[in-house]
Amino acid sequence: MIKRKEETMKVAFAADHGGYKLKDALVSHLREKGIETVDFGTNSPDSCDYPDYADPLCRAVASGECDLGVLVCSTGLGMSMAANKHRGIRAACCSETVSVALTRSHNNANVLCLGAFIVGEHTACEMVDLFISTPFSEGERHVRRVNKVNALDER
Ligand code: RB5
Repeated sequence: MIKRKEETMKVAFAADHGGYKLKDALVSHLREKGIETVDFGTNSPDSCDYPDYADPLCRAVASGECDLGVLVCSTGLGMSMAANKHRGIRAACCSETVSVALTRSHNNANVLCLGAFIVGEHTACEMVDLFISTPFSEGERHVRRVNKVNALDER
């Protein structure tokens, strides 16, 4: 089992107008812990379209420029739909910590989607901490299943 080295990882963040305040709080939370972050915006309450912010983040994660990504909109749902259209992205929309840990260890999720209307800042910080610290289990059955998910990119 590979233990993730949080101190050397780069975590990408992006949000729409519904999620940017929570996104900014999460970026500050990780920066205070000395973890490198990349902020793809948005950075204002002006109305914008969540796919425009999911796209550059997913490209950065899929290319390996960033290790993991966190997307925030009002519900997390639109962001997860947009993210999962990208080759190499396994995005999970979660509203509590158990699902976050399991989607890392079972699904090797590389993007976490959060809804600012759904989760408070304290819980969201806990969820992001778990997301970046939980390794993929690499059990044979999980590797096989994730490989099958990845193969769907080629259809
Ligand atoms: C924006 O109003 C809202 O639709 C968006 O933040 C997101 O929740 C969509 O899924």
